[in-house]
Amino acid sequence: MFDSIAPRYDLFNDVLSVGIHRLWRADAIDSLAPVPGHRYLDLCAGTLDLARAIATHAPGAIAVGADFSLPMLERGARKLNHREAVFSVAADALALPVADRVFAGCTIGFGLRNLVDYTAGLSEMRRVLEPGGRLVVLEFTTPPGKLFRTLYHSYFHHLLPRAGALISGDPDAARYLPDSVADFPDCEALSDMLTNVGFSRVRYRLLSGGIAALHTGVRE
Ligand SMILES: C[S@@+](CC[C@H](N)C(=O)[O-])C[C@H]1O[C@@H](n2cnc3c(N)ncnc32)[C@H](O)[C@@H]1O
Repeated sequence: MFDSIAPRYDLFNDVLSVGIHRLWRADAIDSLAPVPGHRYLDLCAGTLDLARAIATHAPGAIAVGADFSLPMLERGARKLNHREAVFSVAADALALPVADRVFAGCTIGFGLRNLVDYTAGLSEMRRVLEPGGRLVVLEFTTPPGKLFRTLYHSYFHHLLPRAGALISGDPDAARYLPDSVADFPDCEALSDMLTNVGFSRVRYRLLSGGIAALHTGVRE
């Protein structure tokens, strides 16, 4: 699915989030707090926005973006300039071709929801993090406030799939987004998953009234 929507993926994000995804990504990078001289992994990296943001935030850091869709990575590679220390790797998030404990931090933006096994994915992230390394999960969630949730539901489940189908040319892909968010664990359940695979200091905060959430945890 991502192979086929790769050419329109960035437009899809900008239009359907009215650009707000850029603010959420900035929050994710602030939570990661990357520093020069260290290696960072962005998993399910897609068109490399988060990997690029890591490299821009901490010049001298190395950012590796891993994704199993080559067309998404190729689209992202076109946005790189030669000064950005961003490397892309075609890889399955559930079986990373990476040694244990090599990254100082790991981000995954709107990616965890797509994995067939969330726990296996989180365990892989923990495996490749150094002790003390930080995980940052940026993902959609369902707003807690009743009024806002009702309004947002109309947009997310009715308007967005129609507008998304027009932009992406793929009605199934546009429908997949709200369906996969509805199936995804809520913030408390996701926090428990992070704790259960071995992350400590697990926290989360809601973004934009609970449309999205940022979870963080530390590998001891
Ligand atoms: C919604 S996009 C998110 C892209 C990017 N992180 C962003 O913030 O825009 C989800 C990405 O996850 C990738 N993906 C899904 N399952 C994967 C897996 N098992 N291994 C690697 N990448 C995967 C897809 O190819 C797609 O590029």
